[in-house]
Amino acid sequence: MLWWWSTLFFLSIHGSQAQQTYVDNRQLDCNINYTTAYGYTCNGPSSCRSYLTFRSQPPRYNTPSSIAALLNSNPNDITTLNNFSSNSATIPADTVVVVPISNCSCSGEWYQHNASYELQGTNETYFSVANNTYEGLSTCQAMISQSTYDFRNLSVGNNITVPLRCACPTANQTAAGIRYLLTYLITWGNTYEYMSTLFAGVDVQSILDANSLSPEHIIFPFTPILIPLRTEPTRINNSATPAPPPAPPVIPVTPTTGGGSGSSSKWTIVGVGIGVGLLLIVSVSGVLVWFFRKRKNQRRRQSVLPAKYTPAIPPESNSWSISSEGVRIAVGSLTVYKYDELLKATGDFSDENRVKGSVYRGIFNGDSAAVKVMRGDVSEEINVLKQINHSNIIRLSGFCLHQGNTYLVYEFADNGSVSDWLHSTAKNTKYDSVLEWKQRVQIAHDIADALNYLHNFITPPYIHKNLTCSNVLLDAHMRAKITNFGLARSVEEKENGELQLTRHVVGTFGYMPPEYIENGLITPKMDVFALGVLISELLSGKEAATRSPLGGDEKDVVGLEEMQLSEMVREVVRGGDNVREKLGGFMDGRLRGEYPVELAYSMAEIASKCVAVDLNDRPSVAEVFVALSKILSSSLDWDPSDELEHSRSLSHGR
Ligand SMILES: *[C@@H]1O[C@H](CO)[C@@H](O)[C@H](O)[C@H]1NC(C)=O
Ligand SMILES: *[C@@H]1O[C@H](CO)[C@@H](O)[C@H](O)[C@H]1NC(C)=O
Ligand SMILES: *[C@@H]1O[C@H](CO)[C@@H](O)[C@H](O)[C@H]1NC(C)=O
Ligand SMILES: *[C@@H]1O[C@H](CO)[C@@H](O)[C@H](O)[C@H]1NC(C)=O
Ligand SMILES: *[C@@H]1O[C@H](CO)[C@@H](O)[C@H](O)[C@H]1NC(C)=O
Ligand SMILES: *[C@@H]1O[C@H](CO)[C@@H](O)[C@H](O)[C@H]1NC(C)=O
Ligand SMILES: *[C@@H]1O[C@H](CO)[C@@H](O)[C@H](O)[C@H]1NC(C)=O
Ligand SMILES: *[C@@H]1O[C@H](CO)[C@@H](O)[C@H](O)[C@H]1NC(C)=O
Ligand SMILES: *[C@@H]1O[C@H](CO)[C@@H](O)[C@H](O)[C@H]1NC(C)=O
Ligand SMILES: *[C@@H]1O[C@H](CO)[C@@H](O)[C@H](O)[C@H]1NC(C)=O
Repeated sequence: MLWWWSTLFFLSIHGSQAQQTYVDNRQLDCNINYTTAYGYTCNGPSSCRSYLTFRSQPPRYNTPSSIAALLNSNPNDITTLNNFSSNSATIPADTVVVVPISNCSCSGEWYQHNASYELQGTNETYFSVANNTYEGLSTCQAMISQSTYDFRNLSVGNNITVPLRCACPTANQTAAGIRYLLTYLITWGNTYEYMSTLFAGVDVQSILDANSLSPEHIIFPFTPILIPLRTEPTRINNSATPAPPPAPPVIPVTPTTGGGSGSSSKWTIVGVGIGVGLLLIVSVSGVLVWFFRKRKNQRRRQSVLPAKYTPAIPPESNSWSISSEGVRIAVGSLTVYKYDELLKATGDFSDENRVKGSVYRGIFNGDSAAVKVMRGDVSEEINVLKQINHSNIIRLSGFCLHQGNTYLVYEFADNGSVSDWLHSTAKNTKYDSVLEWKQRVQIAHDIADALNYLHNFITPPYIHKNLTCSNVLLDAHMRAKITNFGLARSVEEKENGELQLTRHVVGTFGYMPPEYIENGLITPKMDVFALGVLISELLSGKEAATRSPLGGDEKDVVGLEEMQLSEMVREVVRGGDNVREKLGGFMDGRLRGEYPVELAYSMAEIASKCVAVDLNDRPSVAEVFVALSKILSSSLDWDPSDELEHSRSLSHGR
């Protein structure tokens, strides 16, 4: 009884008094309406004074006047507060400027401070404005929800409202002496402790409380976090800010895998976490620019700009110039479509032609093609695909650049994705019918074939990095084709025994191996892990991780692992007496037992090896491919009626 009361009490406090929720990396996926991406909840006074931070961004936004104009603030206030010499003083790059906002107010359910921004380049998108120009003070979701302009149709001169994230203290905070909330922009290397030293007198716990965070919760660069202040802020000296790493760090091969005894490596402080994976679903968002790609341009940039400065806007650094470079290289082998042609082919991107997300079906000269609308930088995908010629990898036939979007034109896969077949809940579609055993083996084999090609037959080799059942499409003959190379990266030649790392973990939950989630380690074994999960899905019909990214309490990450398919398949082949029963329980019920048990077991064994916790225990894709080839040829000889006879005789024998 007491327990009930305290639970209820806790819930009611939590419900009405909760502080703000940290955005995690939800601002990355413009296609998904995460409410926390819209803004901080209006849960206190309807308006208040608040503060934003902004990092000086030459050449455009590096004076008090230009920053004030961008953020709709007052230049005199900025100059005074930050002790600049005048409103036109040049502020060194990356200096954290505190920007006072006299009126942060409730607009519907969210606090915001309105700025307006006139689009200046054809390459700008809601994402680039929110992330690059405004440095994360707004989100694409918030902008899209308040804008009259369609994301496909932005043009230079459009005047868009930019809702900047600010917040007012709740009654609870006010009672605790907090007078202002400052929106601080996290960058590489920041920790809770660092932020606490940056704002004298603000302890780590109060930062955690203000953002409903726990000390273990991972924070991400280019996201805002609230700093609760008891007094007005003064200028910030961030010159001791850990510099952004010049390149993804390279570490020697040491037993960093498997998580070990929870050594919280310093690389995990910012940007590495499960959270992202949950959010960056498969999809088509295509807005991501990866850290490593910037590195490719590092050398070129360094000759133009001071080495330490990583600008967001100037031509050398932005994603688009890289992308247009990619496009220039690509033109040779690809068709460049006119936007009008795409409009005609897709019926003006009509809803009837929408396949899924931002993928449309188009008819070009009588042939079907898939047209994918992407924002931001897509050079990686173009560059990977243009050099690939493999029947199990989706073929890119051309593209079109129009008003900041890239439209990629692919071969059309008539039969949707493996996910549609295995997990679709829609009724009365062709996906109602069930994949047979032979089809499933063929699909697994095709995927391994494609990965084997990527890892071993092209130079440089590529790691797909985002293999999921939604990224495997099926053609008219139910042959698999891998798609969505937005995350793919080349395996760069490194000196012996060195590995690539990223601090920017993106991917799909359930498919990411532990060494990637925990340490950002990128190796071809990452794809092997995902392949193991896919094979398990084909066997069991179960999802890689059974949890919807939108539903439920998103913070409850702990209970999640139990539901991962990789765990389940390891359990099936772990041995013991009742292997046959365990396998039977694991297999997809829709197969109605029509599968060769021995082969199914071999396949489960392969899958479980692929998802080994230690990457050194995983086979190479080439080995998996050979094993699957054998299973495939045995499966082609297998006749479902044999199995029925077999099991009948077994049950008679009992
Ligand atoms: C509100 O303040 C009280 C007292 O400081 C604290 O115990 C409680 O946890 C706070 N509630 C929330 C949701 O932060
Ligand atoms: C997001 O929400 C708006 C309004 O609620 C809706 O019109 C829009 O279709 C939603 N977008 C997505 C991708 O769900
Ligand atoms: C403000 O800057 C001036 C010189 O530019 C310096 O003399 C003064 O000490 C600074 N004040 C503070 C509070 O930092
Ligand atoms: C702040 O904005 C709100 C909503 O627009 C308005 O009602 C209020 O008067 C404003 N307060 C100040 C001090 O400008
Ligand atoms: C900010 O803009 C939104 C819509 O763009 C509007 O509803 C709201 O009233 C504006 N707030 C202020 C304080 O002007
Ligand atoms: C695109 O913008 C133009 C003018 O800016 C407008 O006439 C047209 O209707 C818009 N199209 C869509 C699909 O929003
Ligand atoms: C953009 O819109 C805002 C608010 O609607 C307005 O104050 C501003 O003057 C406009 N800017 C331009 C360049 O039209
Ligand atoms: C800022 O901090 C750095 C290192 O902590 C120090 O060397 C520098 O003098 C400080 N600058 C100012 C203007 O206080
Ligand atoms: C967001 O902007 C930062 C610079 O402010 C840039 O370094 C980063 O790559 C951008 N993120 C994406 C996903 O484009
Ligand atoms: C768009 O392109 C222009 C000119 O190439 C460049 O100056 C600008 O920085 C780019 N903006 C973005 C957001 O990529």
